[in-house]
Amino acid sequence: MKYIQFNILFVLALITLPSTLAKLRVGFYRRSCPEAESIVQQAVQKRFAADKSVTAALLRMHFHDCFVRGCDASILIDSTDDNQAEKAAGPNLTVREYSLIDQIKSMLEAACPQTVSCADIVTLATRDAVSLAGGPKYNVLTGRHDGLVSSASEVNLPGPASTVSEARQAFSARGLTINDMVVLLGGHTLGVSHCSFFKDRLSNFQGTGVPDSTMDQELVTNLKGMCGSNPNIIWIRLHS
Ligand code: HEM
Repeated sequence: MKYIQFNILFVLALITLPSTLAKLRVGFYRRSCPEAESIVQQAVQKRFAADKSVTAALLRMHFHDCFVRGCDASILIDSTDDNQAEKAAGPNLTVREYSLIDQIKSMLEAACPQTVSCADIVTLATRDAVSLAGGPKYNVLTGRHDGLVSSASEVNLPGPASTVSEARQAFSARGLTINDMVVLLGGHTLGVSHCSFFKDRLSNFQGTGVPDSTMDQELVTNLKGMCGSNPNIIWIRLHS
């Protein structure tokens, strides 16, 4: 378990390296905003005390941000009359905790105006939330710039109906191997899912009238029990 956790973080670190790698370093804000990392940490800690599922929410937000244009916080940009931003894309409608990032940004603007990027806030907050959930506390390179472009049409994340080879292709297009993908999917160890994303596999898979035969039958039974008669409820996979 520890090994898997370590690998997820290592691979997350890989996908989170933007093209401006040379400028990133641990402690980028040490002089310009010495309290930056502790402000983020305290805010995440407070939120975690109220709702432990914040770890899953941030982990997913970080992945959805990094997979599109790199880790540039483009997922946080709001849509305008002229532009449907990433936030408005289907997979991002169920991303949670946008308001926590907004709140941390406001706190950092009060402490050190126009210094700490939102891209670094998402990365640091995810690190802190993972650590609070029992994962390791790893060093985060900081100094990312926020992106200015955000378009819903660019959000081409693999979806719940993607085949393994489609998912592999999506990861490979970002320089990630099958091993990286398997390790990163370990991120699903915690968090929530809407039953609607997989209910078709539990009873009438592809019109066959029976569950997906490739699924573990005990899992099928458990999922059916958790989803009950309402296919749209949210169920908690694991609270760490
Ligand atoms: C093939 C790639 C992936 C697919 C198809 C996928 C799909 C999904 C789906 C359908 C959900 C449920 C969302 C909901 O019902 O609100 C979900 C949740 C989640 N995903 Fe993924 N995911 C993928 C990759 C990843 C990766 C790489 C990570 C992290 C490194 C990740 C982390 C999470 C987490 C933590 C949740 C729970 C979010 C929450 O509790 O709000 N996913 N994913």
